[in-house]
Amino acid sequence: MEYDVKDISLAKKGKLRIEWAERLMPVLGLIRKRFQKEQPLKGLNIGACLHVTSETANLMRTLKEGGANVSLCASNPLSTQDDVAASLVKDYKIPVFAIKGEDNDTYYKHLNAVLDSKPNITMDDGGDLVSVLHSKRTELIKNVIAGTEETTTGVIRFKSMERERVLRYPIIAVNDANTKHMFDNRYGTGQSSIDGILRATNILLAGKNFVVAGYGWCGKGVAMRAKGMGANVIITEIDPLKALEAVMDGYRVMSMDEAAKIGDIFITATGDVDVIVDRHMRAMKDGAILCNTGHFNVEINIPHLEKMAKKRTIRDFVDEYTFKDGKRLYLLGEGRLINLAAAEGHPASVMDMSFANQSLCVEYIKKEGKKLDNRVYSVPKHIDEEVASLKLKSMGIKIDVLTSKQKKYLESWTEGT
Ligand code: NAI
Repeated sequence: MEYDVKDISLAKKGKLRIEWAERLMPVLGLIRKRFQKEQPLKGLNIGACLHVTSETANLMRTLKEGGANVSLCASNPLSTQDDVAASLVKDYKIPVFAIKGEDNDTYYKHLNAVLDSKPNITMDDGGDLVSVLHSKRTELIKNVIAGTEETTTGVIRFKSMERERVLRYPIIAVNDANTKHMFDNRYGTGQSSIDGILRATNILLAGKNFVVAGYGWCGKGVAMRAKGMGANVIITEIDPLKALEAVMDGYRVMSMDEAAKIGDIFITATGDVDVIVDRHMRAMKDGAILCNTGHFNVEINIPHLEKMAKKRTIRDFVDEYTFKDGKRLYLLGEGRLINLAAAEGHPASVMDMSFANQSLCVEYIKKEGKKLDNRVYSVPKHIDEEVASLKLKSMGIKIDVLTSKQKKYLESWTEGT
């Protein structure tokens, strides 16, 4: 079996982490047990490009135990847990091509190694795997039935491919399932991004001006948790509706030009480019901290920063940039997703739902994929509802059930005042 991980002797620690995450992923566990019995993925080659974490390891195990051949590379050069990667290879016999801190060439070499497995299903997070397949490895597209996409940025890219009629197989937007983005993007990114900032810096959040760019699902989660720790949260947005929502949720809303002058900590969560550029950085206070939790490291214009200031690494995941006048700014995790770069990514119990969706969507593709067109599809509603029901059940929470009278009432228009 071919693989490329940092150090195979890290496997023992990785296995314990995988077991720890497993305990917190009961829904995926139920699916794994059923998959073991029914073997619904028998004979499928699945090529996955995901953050290589202990939660992803449990997804890979589930797919493999369901009969699939899986291989895995990282969807970001800084998001791999090297011990987990080693254990997947050694203990679970799953080929992994991922090393934390890999350079761009190695990152793409690893993507290509996964594509060499001739996948029938692609499982992407951010769209890089599918993009390479559509541009440089087109001879492999004939093997693919369909793909799944884990995050907002990937879904945006594939919708653009669909519009331009260049998407050559169907994609299921796992990100758009309610049981994914309402929990993973909001509560997962919210908590783990704060965790990343704290692990990297150990700063006190209470009393700080904490600027969140983007009030979408991720931004809302980060803002909510920063507020809970006593920070004065400021939101920047470009969408009037989201901006208004942030105002009514009790935050100060202003332009980045205004926020730049007063912020102590800045975090971008937009999926957009150039959210923080040179003029903002010039306006920032001495000591301001900058980080990003959006998918790509383009939200903070790092080349601008490198041009204006001299860099030294002052702590793990903290680069200090000194300007000519002596002012210093701190960039965390090289502007890559801070929750994965400096912390451990989302807690397992939210990834439980995201990866339950992934597993059930793969099973759905095996059954129905050939009937789909080359478009981006939502997760089938029954899968979303099944994941929500199983999650509640695993938490021991019972909810009410509609009586037949209530059902009839809710479906009728005749009853009024
Ligand atoms: P979303 O679409 O719900 O929210 C993005 C928000 O940013 C929107 O409200 C939009 O109006 C706003 N925005 C766009 N350009 C802006 C600008 N220049 N200035 C201020 N606001 C701007 O997207 P979601 O789900 O919150 O995802 C955001 C990013 O985070 C994506 O790149 C996504 O892939 C990534 N993501 C990262 C995770 C992590 O683990 N760190 C987990 C899930 C998603």
